[in-house]
Amino acid sequence: MVHADAANFASDLSKEQVYDLVLLQAESLMSDQRNWVCNTANIASLLWHAYKSLPEPSSHVNWAGFYTLDRSDPSGKSLILGPFQGKIACQAIAFGRGVCGTAAQTQKTQLVPNVEEFPGHIACDSESKSEIVVPITVDDPNNEGGRKVVAIIDVDCAVENGFDEVDAKYLGELAELLARSCDW
Ligand code: SME
Repeated sequence: MVHADAANFASDLSKEQVYDLVLLQAESLMSDQRNWVCNTANIASLLWHAYKSLPEPSSHVNWAGFYTLDRSDPSGKSLILGPFQGKIACQAIAFGRGVCGTAAQTQKTQLVPNVEEFPGHIACDSESKSEIVVPITVDDPNNEGGRKVVAIIDVDCAVENGFDEVDAKYLGELAELLARSCDW
């Protein structure tokens, strides 16, 4: 059942417990819904409220959302802004550019403790000090055995060292869940 209460997280939970709940809620939301716009919109909200329920540094998250593969670009190598929570953001990002474009190009999670030290970081918001970007990949129909990026999860934090390996692990699991639960 879709209900706003799903985004209420108790304030005494650990980060691992909160992420476990995010994964459970996400699974439930997507159990009878495969539309990626609908699902990423609700999951951006879930993530936002999850971080806000946690102590520092997670409570300083200032942007949580998605960029998706821009299907209007014939090169298949650019991302376009998807559903998110936070301030207005850059609309288009080429593969290879900034933290998001690097995650899309390499198909690898980018855990960035200090965005100012990341070559080519795109400063959509000067308040963002650290960032994590996790690619969402599906089987590539044009490359047997290969994977293709369909979207990325992007979370920004207004303090340095906002994210760690726990975030990378759970957001990686969320990316896998999204990959198989939506029609991309
Ligand atoms: N900082 C990102 C751009 C997206 S915003 O943070 C929402 C980057 O370097 O890719």
